[in-house]
Amino acid sequence: MIGMAQTVSSPNGNVTVKFSLTNDGQPTYEMEYKGKTVCKPSHLGLELAKDKHASKGMQETDLMKGFKETGHKTSTFDETWKPVWGETATIRNHYNEMEVSLNQPSSKRNIKIRFRVYDYGMGLRYEFPQQEELNYFVIKEEHTQFAMADNHTAYWIPGDYDTQEYEYQITPLTGIKDIIRRDREKYKSNSSTTVFSDTGVQTSLQMKTKDGLYINIHEAACLDYPTMHLNLDEKTLTFESWLTPDAVGMKGFIQTPFNTPWRTVLVSDDARDMLSCKLTLNLNEPCKIEDTSWIHPTKYCGVWWDMIVGRKSWSYTNDYPSVRLGETDYSKCKPNGTHGATTAEVKRYIDFAAKNGLQEVLVEGWNIGWEDWFGHQKLDVFDFVTPYPDFDIKELNEYAHSKGVKLMMHHETSASAINYERHLEDAFKLMNKYGYDAVKTGYVGDIIPRGEYHYSQIMNNHYQRVVEEAAKHHIMVNAHEATRPTGICRTWPNLVGNESARGTEYEAFGGSVPYHTVMLPFTRLQGGPMDYTPGIFETKLSEWSQNQSFVHSTLCGQLSLYLVMYSPLQMAADLPEHYEKYDDAFQFIRDVACDWDDSKYIEAEPAKYITVARKAKGTDNWFVGGKTGEEARNAVVKLDFLDKGKKYECTIYQDAADADYEKNPKAYRITKRTVKRGDVLKIREARGGGFAVSIMAKK
Ligand code: NOJ
Ligand code: CA
Repeated sequence: MIGMAQTVSSPNGNVTVKFSLTNDGQPTYEMEYKGKTVCKPSHLGLELAKDKHASKGMQETDLMKGFKETGHKTSTFDETWKPVWGETATIRNHYNEMEVSLNQPSSKRNIKIRFRVYDYGMGLRYEFPQQEELNYFVIKEEHTQFAMADNHTAYWIPGDYDTQEYEYQITPLTGIKDIIRRDREKYKSNSSTTVFSDTGVQTSLQMKTKDGLYINIHEAACLDYPTMHLNLDEKTLTFESWLTPDAVGMKGFIQTPFNTPWRTVLVSDDARDMLSCKLTLNLNEPCKIEDTSWIHPTKYCGVWWDMIVGRKSWSYTNDYPSVRLGETDYSKCKPNGTHGATTAEVKRYIDFAAKNGLQEVLVEGWNIGWEDWFGHQKLDVFDFVTPYPDFDIKELNEYAHSKGVKLMMHHETSASAINYERHLEDAFKLMNKYGYDAVKTGYVGDIIPRGEYHYSQIMNNHYQRVVEEAAKHHIMVNAHEATRPTGICRTWPNLVGNESARGTEYEAFGGSVPYHTVMLPFTRLQGGPMDYTPGIFETKLSEWSQNQSFVHSTLCGQLSLYLVMYSPLQMAADLPEHYEKYDDAFQFIRDVACDWDDSKYIEAEPAKYITVARKAKGTDNWFVGGKTGEEARNAVVKLDFLDKGKKYECTIYQDAADADYEKNPKAYRITKRTVKRGDVLKIREARGGGFAVSIMAKK
């Protein structure tokens, strides 16, 4: 306990945050949940650049200590807002706020620290009002601490300036270092990676305490600022913010007035609250797009998995060791015979989408440049407008539209952000011309401008610029390899997806642990939906390709992901011919919604299991999904969310008794029965398995 503290509690009183200044004027907070310590006294502050990067070469004073409090205000806020798409039709944003005003006499500067305290956590941020003495400044490091009370279990991935495509590790806090040291060489297999510390981890970081508290640290509204990582001081069990630097090693060029992103701590004694709590979205600004009628949740398929698995190629020819846009003549070369995005193949996917109620078809490898798209830090790698000779863009869009389907655009930038910004306007105009309304972008490889990192301030501004420009063109964005989201989709709901984690593609690159998909909702999904690309039915890739990897899930486990991994963008990622073989199971993907009026988390434990029920938007139909990790288990679903007096037709897609993700992944059973409110479903989930249920209201 600190003397002379200002305290603010959450609306139900469960969460309390105290603010104080140390004897030498250093801002400090601590946090409790139901009387238990969540964060011990933790310091706040920013270290500023004092060298040539400092604003006008000023002899800067750090914003770390020497502060005096000049005032504080508390207030309450309670509103209910409607997301354009989401897990629920409405979201309540209810918090108590404390604004602390501070003055640093030695620099004559004024800053504010704002706390918003919710029933399941809190957010804090630094605010820099415009003032004579604080107009421009450069951040050397932000020193926001999160002092843990014990050696908690952490579910973590290594801190990295360039990628989050990792499997989660589960260790005590003091076990982080050994694993990072052990695996450092292994990390280098990613196309771009910069692990910065032996004790560095990424957010969102999930933890569990010995007495059963779930604690999660992340950030909200990361705009015009670098992405935050956390670095652990093992002796004090204190995490401290570690921002992503830019190419000159600086961590933020700021002009006031400016507010930093929110630093968030979720807490509850019930793991389900980690999944249902909307704190990250709530700490973002309301929607800035006036007319959102063109934004729509989408189920899609695509010319994609065949390339990831290695049977087909993005490139058109093998004739050239390299190509130059505008000079290489594709009409003179021999097609390689493996090009995926041919007019005939795309038509096959369009037919499949139209027949099965999928709204869009993603096509990768449609545009010139893929012959040497990555590995050379090449600036002008793609122009985003010139199709390969065997991809008839006009005919295919007309064909798709005639069947009520849209093509989904693909812009792989090869991490050449400069090149993408140069071509962006023309690329979006081309999309508007042919009626595309969604783009999947990608940033594979090291960033250009060279020396920048995927998560630096300038790159975060780039991704945001793309989202805002896209909105002007009524285009939805799904960005791969970009910064992990921080709830910005509330403000810009045309950001319908991100990858920013290890997606299904890794099941073709050696695989991911079976508990990966019961980790991601606790971590990566805190900031926004993921384009995980589920739905692989032929999980043993060697049965139909040269690829020796396999998907670490049963077929029913794949079905469950349409519920467990919430996203308004859901891919049916396997090949049409594979779905045709298991048409009765594919019925679930046909039926499942991807926009919801309500969601109820029924069972949850990080890395173990998640069971969730969701009510399809504008209907009385419910869908339930359950996924387990490494261990088989029995899910128990009490149907107490159904309407009283109504009858429902219930179809259960479950692992067969002998199913197992390694030995027998495709063994499933489909049963139908009539259910009503109060009935209980007991469903066995195989190792690496899961289940999916549709519950359709009877007329
Ligand atoms: C990586 C993306 O995650 C994947 O989906 C895409 O197919 C490739 N890059 C090529 O752009
Ligand atoms: Ca990727």
